Amino acid sequence: MAQENPLYLYERAPLTSPISSVYDYYWLAEKVGTPYYIVEESTLNDRYEQLKEAYAGFNGTVRIALSIKANFNPYVLKFFIKKGSMFDLTSPEELFFLLHSGGSSDRVVYTSVTERLDEYEEILSKGVKRVVVASFSGLMNLMEAAERLNLVPEVGIRINPEVPVKAEIKASYKNGKFGVPIGGSTQDNATNMIKSIYSTPNLKFIGFHFHLGSQIEDPSAFIQALDKLKAFSQKLKREIPAFELKMLDVGGGMPVNYGIRVPSPKELGTVVTERLNNIKEELGYDYDLYVESGRYLTAESSSLLTKIVNIKNYSSHKYIYVDAGYHLLLDTALVHQIYPMEVLPSTKEEPVKTTVAGRLCDTMDVFPIGPEAKLGGAKQGKLMMIKNVGAYSLVFNMPFHSQVKPAVVYRDVNGKYFLARKRQTIDELFQEEGGDLLNSCIQID
Ligand SMILES: Cc1ncc(COP(=O)(O)O)c(C=O)c1O
Repeated sequence: MAQENPLYLYERAPLTSPISSVYDYYWLAEKVGTPYYIVEESTLNDRYEQLKEAYAGFNGTVRIALSIKANFNPYVLKFFIKKGSMFDLTSPEELFFLLHSGGSSDRVVYTSVTERLDEYEEILSKGVKRVVVASFSGLMNLMEAAERLNLVPEVGIRINPEVPVKAEIKASYKNGKFGVPIGGSTQDNATNMIKSIYSTPNLKFIGFHFHLGSQIEDPSAFIQALDKLKAFSQKLKREIPAFELKMLDVGGGMPVNYGIRVPSPKELGTVVTERLNNIKEELGYDYDLYVESGRYLTAESSSLLTKIVNIKNYSSHKYIYVDAGYHLLLDTALVHQIYPMEVLPSTKEEPVKTTVAGRLCDTMDVFPIGPEAKLGGAKQGKLMMIKNVGAYSLVFNMPFHSQVKPAVVYRDVNGKYFLARKRQTIDELFQEEGGDLLNSCIQID
C-alpha cells in the first residue's frame, strides 16, 4: 500500500517551479486535511501583469482594481497591496478586510449597492476618497455624509448603458438592478445626478463607471457602452461649462479559461483600448482608465483539493464521490460552472459515463464535467484537483451539513507554503452557530 502512496512515488516541487507537484498536494493533505484550497502566488502575479499589459496601449494612466468580492482572503489581499493594485469595494466590511490586511483607503473605488448614509459616513471617515453612486437617493446620502464630515469626495456615476451582453452573468439590461440610465423622467438618471453634483460644493464629479457582467468574451458590448458614454459626454460638455472627465471605469468581466478557450486579455484589451484612445482624443479630456477584475485576477490562482471517498459503478455509469460539495463551490449549483478537474495522478482509462458527486445530501451537488477533465485512475483515498476556483468560491463557503470551512494554503513565489486560513474546527462551528448560547441564555427584551 505504501508504494501506492504518491508521497513515495513523487518528489516535492522544486522551489523554482511556478506550481506545486503531486507530492506537494498529498503532503499538504496530511498537514491540513481535506478538502483544502491552494493559492499559487506566481499565478496571481502573472494574471495581474497580463491584465496590465492588455491595456498598456492606453494613452494615459491605467489603474487595475481587484474586485474584493471575488476573493477577500487576507493573504491574497496582501499580494495585491504589494503590487500597488487599486481595490473595488462594495461594503464597509470589505474595507475592514483591506485595511486590516495592510491596505490603504487611498486605493479604493467604492461602489455600493445599498448606498446608506451611515455606510458613507463610515467609509469616508476611514479615508475613502472615490465613491461611485448608482441612485439619486444614494447621491443624496453621500452628499449629506460629506457635509457632516466636512469632506469633498470624488464622485463617479454608475451608468447602466443598457447594451446587450453575451455572458452567463449580465449586469447591463433595461430597468436593471445596477446603475442608472443616462436619461429618463425620474430623478434616477445620470443627467440629473451629474447636474446635482455640479451644483454641490462638497462633491467633485470625476467620471463614469459601468460594469457589464462577468465572463464577457465579446468586446462589442464594451464598444457600444463606450460610444454611448462618448455621446453623453459631448452633450454634458455643451450643457455644463465646468464638465470634465477624469475617470472612466470599465468595470470587470475579463473571462477565465474554465476548460473552454476564451479570448485572452490582450485580445479583448487591445480592441477596447483602441476605442478608448479614439474617444479620449475626440473629447479632449485626460481621464484615467480604471479596469476592475475579480474573476480573471484570482480564479486561475487556486485549486480545491478534495479526497475521493467512495466510488459506485453501475453497468454503464460511474459515480465518484468526493469530500467537497457546492458548499465550497457554490457556482457549480448556481450557474452550473464547469471547473477543470483531475484525479491525482490520473491514468488513461476506457471512458465510461461518470458523475463527480459532492458529499452533500442534495441532488444539485454534482460537479459539471468539462472536456478537459481527467478522471481516469479514480480510487478511494486519492485526491481530485478542481482547478481555477480562486474567484467566487472561498467567499461563499457555507456550513451546510455542519461542514467546517477548509484550510487555505498559500504558495509564495519562492515556493514556500503558508497557512492562509486555518481549517475551522467542529467546536468553533458549533459555538458560532449558537452552541455558545445554550448555557448563557441571552434573553432579548
Ligand atoms: C461593479 C463590479 N465591478 C467588477 C466586478 C468583477 O467582475 P469580474 O469578476 O467578472 O471581473 C463585479 C462583479 O460582480 C462588479 O459588480
